[in-house]
Amino acid sequence: MKKLSLALGLLALGCGGSSGATCPTNSTLTYDNFGRQFFATYCDRCHAAGTRPTYSTLAQIRADRSAIDLAAAAGDSNVNTSMPESGTAPTEAVRRQLGEWLACNAP
Ligand code: HEC
Repeated sequence: MKKLSLALGLLALGCGGSSGATCPTNSTLTYDNFGRQFFATYCDRCHAAGTRPTYSTLAQIRADRSAIDLAAAAGDSNVNTSMPESGTAPTEAVRRQLGEWLACNAP
């Protein structure tokens, strides 16, 4: 109950919270089969220009892992949708994959 009201409070503020995604031991998501394409499709358009964090390398993505989770990933606690700000957005299922991949430390 406490957790629920906290989540609702954060929602009311419009800032969400950590997705709460976890890394299943059988996760198959990697940078090559998921991450690279995800950022190229949904993020690089606005995040490759230099004024914002860029996500064009795996090292940059890993360094910004928690902020990316807060902005775009889904998991057991939250479905975060503040990014992408506009344009083509990933489905919730794809956001869950992002949460899982980040929770696995972006292999
Ligand atoms: C339409 C342009 C656009 C797209 C597409 C976009 N962003 Fe952003 N993003 C912005 C802008 C502008 C800011 C900075 C302003 C702000 O903080 O709201 C920002 C800020 C952020 C921040 C906060 C940076 C920080 O240091 O905390 C994160 C994290 C982020 N974006 C992640 C993403 C991810 C992940 C994607 C792809 C799923 C994405 N963005 C797609 C425009 C975009």
